[in-house]
Amino acid sequence: MEKKVVYSAVQPSGNLTIGNYIGAIRSWVKLQNDYDCFFAIADMHAITVRQEPAELRRRTLDLAALYVACGIDPEKCALYVQSHVSAHAELCWVLNTLTYVGEASRMTQFKDKSARHADNVNMGLMDYPVLMAADVLLYQTDLVPVGADQKQHLELSRDLAIRFNNRYGETFRVPEPLIERGGAKIASLQDPFKKMSKSDENPNASVFLSDDRDAILRKFKRAVTDSGDAIVASEEKPGITNLLGIYCAFKGCTMSEAEASFAGMGYGDFKLAVGETVADALAPIQAEQKRLLSEKKYLAELLAAGSERAFRAARKTLSKVYRKVGFYRE
Ligand code: TYM
Repeated sequence: MEKKVVYSAVQPSGNLTIGNYIGAIRSWVKLQNDYDCFFAIADMHAITVRQEPAELRRRTLDLAALYVACGIDPEKCALYVQSHVSAHAELCWVLNTLTYVGEASRMTQFKDKSARHADNVNMGLMDYPVLMAADVLLYQTDLVPVGADQKQHLELSRDLAIRFNNRYGETFRVPEPLIERGGAKIASLQDPFKKMSKSDENPNASVFLSDDRDAILRKFKRAVTDSGDAIVASEEKPGITNLLGIYCAFKGCTMSEAEASFAGMGYGDFKLAVGETVADALAPIQAEQKRLLSEKKYLAELLAAGSERAFRAARKTLSKVYRKVGFYRE
């Protein structure tokens, strides 16, 4: 039987946080044995906000090494750079003609990013979710493992697939988001009502995958907590709940197991324990990423093999789309 298809991507913009790891990359690793997986480095999405070209290039390779260091097996998955497969841009164009300006401008992330980058509200920023739809639909994807913040974008992917199929006949598989219960939304360590983000201005808000042990412990030490002293997950304790969630994600335990192991402990010791768990888990990943980055040729080869594989799959869908919309072919 044919394997189901999984597609996901991360942008090489800024330093990745433990939110990106828990919400996305880590869950991909669990899927690679059972699904036909495509994991991209979304450099075309990244340029919707200004990037320093040399930095973007460096971060793209950093991210490839990170994927592998986190356990993505390039033999099992197509691991590639989005801009290496031109079909993404080509399908995006066709999907643009099916997307209403109204629906694109209503996207929460577009509104947030427009407010944050008011001097650069470019067409690409508004087109961001349409390019995501092109990414996903090109591979006839069944499942898209992402964090909760991407749910709305994937609803647009589904709508566009259905709209295209209705207009031109059955062409795209309609994808489902796969949002993990535990790690779907890791919050900022400084404001538990805000998503932990690569671009937060407060240096203590986000734990980066590249942070060393001291920085990780310091950030957890400064993490905001709640009133009272019980270490329990509840709506009244968003700070503690977030820290418990991070602990569980890295330790692989349930909330109640975590609560039981911290019963009677003070906030200070609890935060130290969470920080140590995260630092211990990240250390081997950081070491492996560093080792891989010294093997540039290996990384270049695996990305070339990945884009070759992606290209073959993408071309099939794109030819079908071009035929369906009526583009003349010999
Ligand atoms: P990016 O780079 O902004 O985020 C990458 C992934 O990390 C997840 N994520 C989080 N999960 C939990 N808690 C957080 N605090 C947190 N912050 C980020 C995001 O949900 C995402 O899964 N637009 C996508 C990249 C992309 C893509 C695609 C994804 C491009 N094309 C096609 C799926 C399918 C994005 O959010 O990148």
